[in-house]
Amino acid sequence: MRAQIAVVGSLNTDLVVRAPHIPRPGETVIGGDFLTMPGGKGANQAVAAARLGASVAMVGRVGTDGFGQQLLANLAAAGVDHRLVVEDADAATGVALIVVEDSGQNSIVVASGANMRLSPNDVAAAESAIASAQVVLLQLESPLETVRRAAEIARAHNVTVILNPAPAQPLPADLLTLIDILTPNESETALLTGDQIQTPSEIEAAAYKLRRMGARMAILTLGERGALLAEADGTEIFSAFDVTPVDTTAAGDAFMGGLAVALGEGQPLPEAIRWGNAAGALATTRMGAQPSLPSREELEHLLRHGKTRES
Ligand code: RIB
Repeated sequence: MRAQIAVVGSLNTDLVVRAPHIPRPGETVIGGDFLTMPGGKGANQAVAAARLGASVAMVGRVGTDGFGQQLLANLAAAGVDHRLVVEDADAATGVALIVVEDSGQNSIVVASGANMRLSPNDVAAAESAIASAQVVLLQLESPLETVRRAAEIARAHNVTVILNPAPAQPLPADLLTLIDILTPNESETALLTGDQIQTPSEIEAAAYKLRRMGARMAILTLGERGALLAEADGTEIFSAFDVTPVDTTAAGDAFMGGLAVALGEGQPLPEAIRWGNAAGALATTRMGAQPSLPSREELEHLLRHGKTRES
């Protein structure tokens, strides 16, 4: 069965430079070549799911500038239905300034522009696309009331709601209780719970806390340490695939795409987390956000032949 996914969220143009290290406050660093790439957590997740074979509808906002036109063309090229992306004459398209250091880690500043004008009404206009999906993917580069409206509509139609709480911000209980699966990384988990998380037992305790805060399940994405699932029955770790990272940008978005497509195709949750881990790992092996997102063939190859970090 082909997965049907709806994504409500951001589209950004990523302005990217590699540098030996991420500059400290007050420091200037000479970097490498300047790259312009399609990004934005919402659009990345939409493209990730489409490359893995899903039918995807994207709900968002761009400006009427050249960046916006290019982002729409990229979505179309990836096979994402972008008819529900509003072209907003009163705002600039979102832009992300990204520095990627030699270790593959990055730092990102987002100028949200049109993304922060995505309204609950825009989402209400997308109700039939949300209702016909098996899974809706949400992030936090859009206004919180818009994210909440999308989750409410999805819940009303029994559509699985996955929220990637990035960039992190405190979340109200009335939003968390609408979420089936929450997918924070380590720093997002720390911000959401208010706890330090370093050791395995601290990570596990934080995952339980996220469930107590309202989410039905939490899947913590832990980079090289894999992913930790916390659900009613307990917790389980899923090892990361062993790859050599070049750029971690959009690894979390690729995880979301893999997880959603597997669930949409009816795979059991543990297998869907493996798909997420595989998609996330592959995305770290290439530069950029959308250019790094894997094809279905690459994903299946890694799932069959890849080694995990502890094996
Ligand atoms: O998750 C990666 C994305 O975060 C980048 O593409 C950038 O646009 C920011 O939204």
